[in-house]
This record gives sequence, structure tokens and C-alpha cells, in this order.
Amino acid sequence: MNAEPSQANPLREAMPRAAAPEPCVVVLFGATGDLTSRKLVPALYNLAREGMLPAGFTVLGFARRAKTDEQFRAEMLDAINKHSRLRPALPEVWKDFGKALGYHVGNLDDLAAYASLKQRLDDMDRRCGTQGNRLFYLATSPEYFPVIIKNLGAAGLVADAVAAHPWTRVVIEKPFGHDLDSALALNRSAAAVLAERQILRIDHYLGKETVQNILALRFANAIFEPLWNQKYIEHVQITAAEELGMEGRRGAYYDTAGAIRDVMQNHIMQLLSLVAMEPPVAMEADAIRDEKAKVMRSLRPLTPAEVAAQIVRGQYGPGTLLGKAVKGYREEEAVPPGSMTETYVAARLRLDTWRWAGVPFFIRVGKRLPKRVTEIAIQFKSAPTRLFAGDGNASLPPNANLLALRIQPDEGISLAFEAKAPGMRVRLQPVKMDFRYGSSFGQQPPEAYERLLLDAMLGDSTLYTRADEVEHAWRFVDSIIAGWQQAPPPQFPNYAAGSWGPEEADRLMEGTGAKWRRL
Ligand code: BG6
Repeated sequence: MNAEPSQANPLREAMPRAAAPEPCVVVLFGATGDLTSRKLVPALYNLAREGMLPAGFTVLGFARRAKTDEQFRAEMLDAINKHSRLRPALPEVWKDFGKALGYHVGNLDDLAAYASLKQRLDDMDRRCGTQGNRLFYLATSPEYFPVIIKNLGAAGLVADAVAAHPWTRVVIEKPFGHDLDSALALNRSAAAVLAERQILRIDHYLGKETVQNILALRFANAIFEPLWNQKYIEHVQITAAEELGMEGRRGAYYDTAGAIRDVMQNHIMQLLSLVAMEPPVAMEADAIRDEKAKVMRSLRPLTPAEVAAQIVRGQYGPGTLLGKAVKGYREEEAVPPGSMTETYVAARLRLDTWRWAGVPFFIRVGKRLPKRVTEIAIQFKSAPTRLFAGDGNASLPPNANLLALRIQPDEGISLAFEAKAPGMRVRLQPVKMDFRYGSSFGQQPPEAYERLLLDAMLGDSTLYTRADEVEHAWRFVDSIIAGWQQAPPPQFPNYAAGSWGPEEADRLMEGTGAKWRRL
């Protein structure tokens, strides 16, 4: 993927460049973990390569394992060469970027390590001109989030939230809690030390270009909004399918989460709220988040009977994917052999709002499905009369108009409609208008983490989730988990790896005329 820097792309010339952040230090807690090497450092490198970072920019990895700055740098260079969107690292970019990387050894629960971190940061302020601005990124396992925040406060590492300078912000990785109670507790520990505007709860789906484009499509164009309601929309389908199973030892975490906590509670709830929200009063963080929170609030917690009727869960067994035999979930590394954790969830949801009354939202998410595809499909109602019936058109599909937002891969949007096929007779045929990011803009979209890290440095929390959104999403998801706990145990595994999930998911659509999309 030896792409040229996108500045070289003439199609990009007319595009405004994002504002540059102020000089700052980014401290990565969990610096020896996967997220740091696969996503965070490569994302920062790409920002450097695109000229988006300020002159006084430094990164400090914080972790328990003893390591020198030099070792950390060598490992990060390796990580960039393996995982960066733009790779391998360009020597002229790496020269400065590499120098800006450092490593601090410390135990996350040892206050003394934060005192020495403070000294080192103060020293960096003097040497690199970082002016006391700090972005702390919590990329550790979630049980450490409260203790890190507490120690940052106790060591005097959190600047006053009211003053604009210097600033402190804390990015909290997912999972944000395991249920509503733990999310409330985490919100409380964070609020004891930080103001809400200093807390950035990440959901990397919000950093995806195509996800941000949902707002542009809906609110920068006057033609869609009048149709965006129960009068014209038959149903909405959201699919988030993955080929991946448990990579390496990921099963140890996944088995405690399942598809409902891993993807449904966060990424899917975010997609749903962007599709269903009312227009915000301004393109500002709180105005947008107010509207998203309202959508989540309108998802009434389900009773156990509703859970049984509206939610289907699945777990993959052995199967074939892309021509290769793959293991079942229970045979994956670090997964208990009799695990009852779901790797697939399908749901039929309703939003209790005027706009969406009676419109089913069908959702499906799962691991080890035939392909990686995330899509939101808006199915419009049929034309009110069958004017074109007859004349060979008897087999017309009843729902001709579908707007598909392709979140990934093959990013784009297509609109299906009926057209007259050439010829003497009036015969209709479905056709598509298609927008593709790649060909329209002639450039690779940045990685979600690039956008999100840049926004964190800029202090823009629009693409981060607010406490109330997370809490509403948990309240709803907890009701599903509670329903499952009361139901008879499912027959797992109930779908083969490489298939589209359990057949039982079809029953969610019975009587609605809808069908799961073939993607
Ligand atoms: C993560 C989940 O949040 O999102 C993973 O923990 C999942 O299980 C991933 O694979 C999907 O992200 P993306 O960007 O590949 O769609």
C-alpha cells in the first residue's frame, strides 16, 4: 500500500485542511498493548505524514514492562511498517516523528509512577514547548480505567477544566462498562476528577468517514429529509458482518462480552442513532449528541417476552469460510469449551417516536459470517398504485426504492429505483444510482483513529459519546441480557462459520414483508 501523500492529489486541492491542534503531549497508557501498535501510533504517524500535527508534539508510552525510549521507538517503527494506512514509514517523516516518541515505565496503580510522569511531562514542556497541554489515552484493559483517572487527579496531572489553557483531556477506550451499573460507576469515577468536556469516550465507528457522512447525506440535502419518516419508510436494516473469529487470544475478552456488548451496545447504537435522529440545531458536539441521546432514550427497555419475540442470538460452530475449514467458537483459543456466549445477534427494534412509529429496524451483527460488510439499508414504501402492473411487469418487486449506505468496504451510497427498459413495451427494470468514495474523491479516507485522535487534540467531542448516550444504550442492552437470563438456554452452536447466521433470524421478519439483504 505504498500510497503517495494525499497532498500530491490534485482532486484534493480544493479541500480545506483541518485546523492544527495546539502543541501537546499524548500519553498512551497501555503502550505495550495491541491497540497502541496496531491503531494509535500508526494513526499518529499518518497525521504527522499529512502535516496535521503541531511542531511541539510528543508521545509518551506508559506501561509496566521495562523498556528504553530507543526500544519503544524501534517497536513503533516496526508497527507503522506493518499496520499504518500509509506504509512503509517515510524516512523524512519518521526522522522527526521517531524523535517525538518516548517511553515511561510505571505500574498503573502506583501513585509514585504518576509523580515521576508529572516530572517528565513538566520537563517535556520546557524542552519541546508542549505548554502543559496533555491528552491521556486509556488503552489498557478496562478494569484500570478508574485507577488511572484517580491517580492522574491525585498526582496533579489534571488541569483546571474552566481555563482554556493548559488543557487536559482523557480518552477512554471501549468497553465503557460491562452493564449499566458499571458504566454509571465509571462515569462517577471520571466525574470525580474530570469535567465532562475533558472526557472523551471513544467509539471508533464515529470516526469512519462513511458514518460521519450519514449526517451530511441527511442534513446537507433537502431531498431526503422529507421522506425520512414512517410515512415513506417501510423498514431499516443494519448489518455489521465480520469474517473474523477470535484472533489469537481475543476469545478471553470476547467470551465475557459477546456480540451484544462488543458491537451492539456501542457501534450499532451509534449507527442507529445517526440514522434515526432529528436534525440538530447546530453542527456542534452537544447539539448533535442531544439528538442522538433522544434516539437511544426512545428505545424502551424490552420485557423478557419481547426479548424472546424480537431478539435472536447465535453462536458459530465449525464451518467453511472462503474455501477454508474454520473452527467453531467453542474450539477457539481461550474460549471455554461449553461457552454460552453469543457471537451473533439479530433484532427487530422499534423506536417510540412520532417520526418512526411502526417502522421496524432490523439489525444483525455477527462473527464468522461470509464476508466483512457493514451497511445501512433504508427500504422505502412501494408506490401507492400498481399502475405498471401487467404488460409483463407482474413480477415487479413490491419495494423498488432502497437507499443503501455502504459503511465498509466499498464505501459509498446507492439508490435503487425502477426504470423503463428500452423497447416498444413498457417494461420496468430495477437500476441503481451509485456513489463511490474512491472514484468521486480520488483518495483513501483516513482511518477512524486518525480523525478521532486529531479531534481529541483539537478538543472537539462531536465524534465522542456523552455519558447519557452510553447510559441509555446500556439500559436497553441490559434489558435484552436480563431477558436472555430468564429464557431457556439456547442450542449453541446454531450456525456454521461461513453462513449468514441462524435461520431463526428469519422469523423476526415474518409478517412484515421484509427479507434480510443478500450482501
Ligand atoms: C471492535 C470490536 O470494537 O470493533 C471487534 O471489539 C470488532 O470485535 C471491531 O471486530 C469491528 O471494527 P471494524 O472497524 O473492523 O468494523
